[in-house]
Amino acid sequence: MTDLMTVSPTPVHRLPRLAEALDMDPGCLWVKREDLTGLAGGGNKARKLQVLLADALAGGCDCLVTGGGAQSNHARMTAAAANIAGLGCELLLTRRPDSFDPGGNVLLDRVLGATIHWVEGTVLPYAELESAIREHSEKLVLEGRRPYALPIGGSSALGARSYAEVARELDNLIDPDLVVVATGSGGTHAGLVAGFGDHCRVLGVDVGARPALATAVEELAVAAAAMAGLSRPSGSCQLDTGQTGGGYGVPGEAAREALLTAARTDALLLDPVYTAKAMAGLFAARRSGRIGRTTRVVFMHTGGLPGLFTRRFTEWLTGESR
Ligand SMILES: Cc1ncc(COP(=O)(O)O)c(C=O)c1O
Repeated sequence: MTDLMTVSPTPVHRLPRLAEALDMDPGCLWVKREDLTGLAGGGNKARKLQVLLADALAGGCDCLVTGGGAQSNHARMTAAAANIAGLGCELLLTRRPDSFDPGGNVLLDRVLGATIHWVEGTVLPYAELESAIREHSEKLVLEGRRPYALPIGGSSALGARSYAEVARELDNLIDPDLVVVATGSGGTHAGLVAGFGDHCRVLGVDVGARPALATAVEELAVAAAAMAGLSRPSGSCQLDTGQTGGGYGVPGEAAREALLTAARTDALLLDPVYTAKAMAGLFAARRSGRIGRTTRVVFMHTGGLPGLFTRRFTEWLTGESR
């Protein structure tokens, strides 16, 4: 098996100053640092890629094919995994000509040497992009290549299953009442649910990437649990759909407040597309009383920091346009 030189288990830290800002017991809020996995900047895709790459290599593939929004962290880390395994990498990335920014993950995709195919138009037409990934792979087969297609976010049942392991890591250390996570394609959320065996212990915060997200998470959780030999999870998908802002990649004022508060209390740096929205969901859950003063909560830091280093998000945070 190719070693992607990732770190696991990832560290867990308390966030006492942030807890205090939220009027929580300072010992009751933790962060799971999935942003520190390693693999070209780190993030939640590292664990998925470790198993998906093994599957790809077992099938004798010669290149990885995947896709996402222009600032996809999954695309960047897939490019990194391909390099380490000595494979090619083809990325289908969506962009809108009026808001395209070549910084952040796009710059890193280029540094890593991936072949980028731009899909012009909307930000993330989810189903169309999934089809485009499959069609591009079929085209490569006709050219004599041996591609391995990864779905958006690496969220096949196999990819999602890798997060069942994280539920075990958390139960061994903390036994949390609730884990709060950014939910994009749904695999990370679903894997955690599969590992805990219970939907009620995971609150996903919808970042606006995937339609019919709750159904996708429930189906993936059942499939991931079955694959891991675990029982079917109880309960139903817990999703905060109130933090999507202006849609995928467009954070609102609540995400901005969450990003700045996390940075200015426990110096936790969040990204604008995923983790700031997830933290806004945690704040909302505390304000509504869903999270109590002594509820044991783990915030999943899933990475994504490169996205912050784009002109658009600099303007969003500072109000400065140059
Ligand atoms: C930084 C970051 N956080 C969270 C997610 C969401 O994970 P998932 O797609 O498994 O729902 C992603 C997915 O792209 C991500 O890049």
